[in-house]
Amino acid sequence: MTNRFRTKITDMLGCEHPILCGGMQWVSRAEFVAAVCNAGAFGFITAESFDTAEHLRAEIRKMRDLTDRPFGVNVSMVPEFGVPDRTIRFCEVICEEGVLAVETAGRSPEPLMPLFREAGVKVIHKITSVRHALKAQALGVDAVTLVGIGSGGHVGLDNVVAFVLIPQAVARLDIPVIAGGAVANGRGFLGALAMGAEAVLMGTAFFATQEAPVHPNIKQRVVQAEETDTSLIMSSIKNPIRCVNNKLVADVLAVEARGTTLAEILGLVAGGKGKLAYQSGDPDTAPIACGQVAGLIGEVKSVARLVEDIITEAGQLLDRLNRLAG
Ligand SMILES: Cc1cc2nc3c(=O)[nH]c(=O)nc-3n(C[C@H](O)[C@H](O)[C@H](O)COP(=O)(O)O)c2cc1C
Repeated sequence: MTNRFRTKITDMLGCEHPILCGGMQWVSRAEFVAAVCNAGAFGFITAESFDTAEHLRAEIRKMRDLTDRPFGVNVSMVPEFGVPDRTIRFCEVICEEGVLAVETAGRSPEPLMPLFREAGVKVIHKITSVRHALKAQALGVDAVTLVGIGSGGHVGLDNVVAFVLIPQAVARLDIPVIAGGAVANGRGFLGALAMGAEAVLMGTAFFATQEAPVHPNIKQRVVQAEETDTSLIMSSIKNPIRCVNNKLVADVLAVEARGTTLAEILGLVAGGKGKLAYQSGDPDTAPIACGQVAGLIGEVKSVARLVEDIITEAGQLLDRLNRLAG
């Protein structure tokens, strides 16, 4: 019999399983996010994949044709750029369209909170330290996702592993804590719940699924990667991002080692390079965000099988633990 893991987060978001797919620029579009939600997990369309707020609105409406399950929108920001008008327009559309939840990331959601509160949108803020989680709680967010140093994408500057971050956050916060990253199977899922998390949030594991709109060559690069095959780029400008090792990452690291500027780094990594690589399949021309958890991913599964395998394995592990404890 398959277990059901009912938590504060499944109750808050109305999803079957406490498994969230973090927003992924260019990847988290309607078809893919609908597959995530239809599999019983909860996904976020990524606003930054769209040129305008009206394109985001169309994608939200498309989502409603593809699933009757609830879903969210990811609003990613860059600390140096504040909250641009474009981000505010995205948020207005999210509110107007009655989206259930947002995943905010990159900087404090403080300026956006009145908008979300008035529209009744749940706010899940993604951060990399307990310090920032406490600040987010004081702002009135509904839940926080804590991302450890091994995760894919932005990992912050504190260099704390998830195994320490999650229990610490659970002990110090009143709002639900979501374990962000480093999970790809039932072991990580159950471990996170045992540490007190109310859900897990995965990026890399969902990126390597059949439904992700990414060229098979790129998925293979992630599937073949061992846990030691990722690097942090952009540490020199205090915005480290964990990516799978490739030629572009080596070039960026070389430039950073000799000393560089924000403009030079942005010249190497920005400009929609990820979007182009996901289409062309050249795994060496873009920064491909990827967590150390790639070392645990051995095949490209469907989204439904990924979710199902996690829940089934977690149930078996729970039986084992109960036997051990008995
Ligand atoms: C390919 C890729 C793209 C990502 N893009 C974004 C993004 O645009 N915004 C964001 O908040 N997080 C982004 N992330 C981070 C994920 O939402 C999630 O926090 C992270 O992947 C969790 O760690 P894991 O990869 O170890 O599962 C991305 C991650 C990956 C793998």
